Amino acid sequence: MTSALYPGSFDPITFGHLDVIGRAAGVFERVTVGVLINPRKNPMLNLEDRIDTIRHAISDELGDIAQRIDVAGFDGLTVEYARQIGAGFIVRGLRAVSDFEIELQMAHTNRKLAPEVDTVFFMTALEHAYLSSSLVKEIAAFGGDVSRMLPAAAVRRLRA
Ligand code: PNS
Repeated sequence: MTSALYPGSFDPITFGHLDVIGRAAGVFERVTVGVLINPRKNPMLNLEDRIDTIRHAISDELGDIAQRIDVAGFDGLTVEYARQIGAGFIVRGLRAVSDFEIELQMAHTNRKLAPEVDTVFFMTALEHAYLSSSLVKEIAAFGGDVSRMLPAAAVRRLRA
């Protein structure tokens, strides 16, 4: 079975993330969305809220393929978590050339740490390529409308 890990902060999940999750599930039999615990990143949403929001977004928006997608928190190295769950691939999204440099460095570093785990990239759909969780958080903090940027589950969570 081909299994992939899609790691990230998902603080909160955006339509860009959801697009990558859905497309990864079109390629891999099992996809695990790995939510980084790392409290040093000082997330706006706690781990449980991020996981719950992602699960709702997936079941609301992705239909039947949701059955092949898991969501779980992890701490430590991404490659160690990939090994632990038996994922042979790490999935990441690329929105623009500006993402490429850091993603290239992470992919090479992860491959050095775990040569058996390869990284694959999906180009985020054009209509979502402008989205970033940080900007969305800022807009929401000032009371702006983020309903076209986030799945309904994430909009509800931010409002709460
Ligand atoms: O959504 P993000 O914040 O862009 O995701 C970044 C993430 C979680 C993929 C990256 O920070 C990560 O892999 N962190 C776990 C620690 C680790 O493995 N570091 C080495 C990466 S080369």
